[in-house]
Amino acid sequence: MAMVCLSDFEAYAKKYLPKTAWDYFAAGADDESSRDDNILAYKRIRFRPRVLRDVSVMDIRTKLLGTEISFPVGIAPTGFHQLAWPDGEKSTARAKAMNICYIASTYSTSSLEEISAAAPGGFRWFQLYIHRNRAVAKQLVQQAEALGFQGLVLTVDLPYTGKRRADVRNGFRLPPHMRLKNLEGAFEGDECSEYGVPPNSLDPSVTWNDIYWLQSLTHLPIVVKGILTKEDAELAVRHGVQGIIVSNHGGRQLDGGPATIDALVEVVEAVQGRVEVYVDGGVRKGGDVLKALALGAKCVFIGRPALWGLAYKGEEGLQDVLRILRDEFRLSMALTGCSSVSGIGRNLVQFSKL
Ligand code: FNR
Ligand code: LAC
Repeated sequence: MAMVCLSDFEAYAKKYLPKTAWDYFAAGADDESSRDDNILAYKRIRFRPRVLRDVSVMDIRTKLLGTEISFPVGIAPTGFHQLAWPDGEKSTARAKAMNICYIASTYSTSSLEEISAAAPGGFRWFQLYIHRNRAVAKQLVQQAEALGFQGLVLTVDLPYTGKRRADVRNGFRLPPHMRLKNLEGAFEGDECSEYGVPPNSLDPSVTWNDIYWLQSLTHLPIVVKGILTKEDAELAVRHGVQGIIVSNHGGRQLDGGPATIDALVEVVEAVQGRVEVYVDGGVRKGGDVLKALALGAKCVFIGRPALWGLAYKGEEGLQDVLRILRDEFRLSMALTGCSSVSGIGRNLVQFSKL
């Protein structure tokens, strides 16, 4: 099978993964309208290409909070990589041969130590979920910092897990040989639910004040993930975060909110360059990356496409996905007349009436 674009990896994963794993990866909440709109919204945006602009030498590098990355795509935090490939997150860490940022999830099936050891020196951020037992978060944040993770991503759109109908129907459970390695021992004696942690173990009482608590635990820059409005973007900036990921969790949490590329516009306008803004959700080709950058994102992150790459061939498959996105992004830039990332501007795109 020739792997030409990201949908080829999706088709492969759908065909070869066990149904319960495929359904868990694919699911959105409720009737999945926000999941699907993330993708459709990119199609409502059209380029305004410029020509005769010497695109013989292309520079697609950029920086993420000061660290150079080879192109503006990173790996969004997703749980349970062993469902896609036996080596799980260790393969994910190794795949980043291309010098991009991998955000490792709290709900990883490899520990932070294992992830670090798999690819020493890699550029990584740690994504945190705060459980009721706050000692767990404290320990993980400090461990991540000690292991050389360079940023802390606090996911703020999951006080409770969204209702994914397929998981309910399948009676989804993490297979018994897989463990949430970062949380081993954290919930001793408690019965774990389908997602490998006790039901209601997440702390739904988290507020903006907890950003100050996190700042007291770590020197790492803090990025909040799951912002969709200008009001929350303003609060994030006021609480001293260094970055914002505009995200609806791939449409897996609240159904019926905006597509993330649409929400990006109001967030970027509110933030006015005070902190970096990123976006995830529905990025499926290089042109989508370019559209997000034109609308003010510094970088995009991919969730499901990374899992499809892993499902195809572990680290090699993920590398294939990243290479394809990189090459498509470079080509889109050239065909719209941009030879460097700094030259990508708002007038490169328009919203169509589609
Ligand atoms: C996620 N996402 C997620 N986010 C997070 O902060 N921590 C996590 O553990 C997970 N786990 C997770 C599992 C799976 C299977 C999916 C599909 C998603 C959300 C993820 O970081 C990201 O926001 C979306 O996946 C982006 O949308 P796309 O790229 O999948 O369309
Ligand atoms: C999910 C959790 C792990 O979206 O964030 O499945």
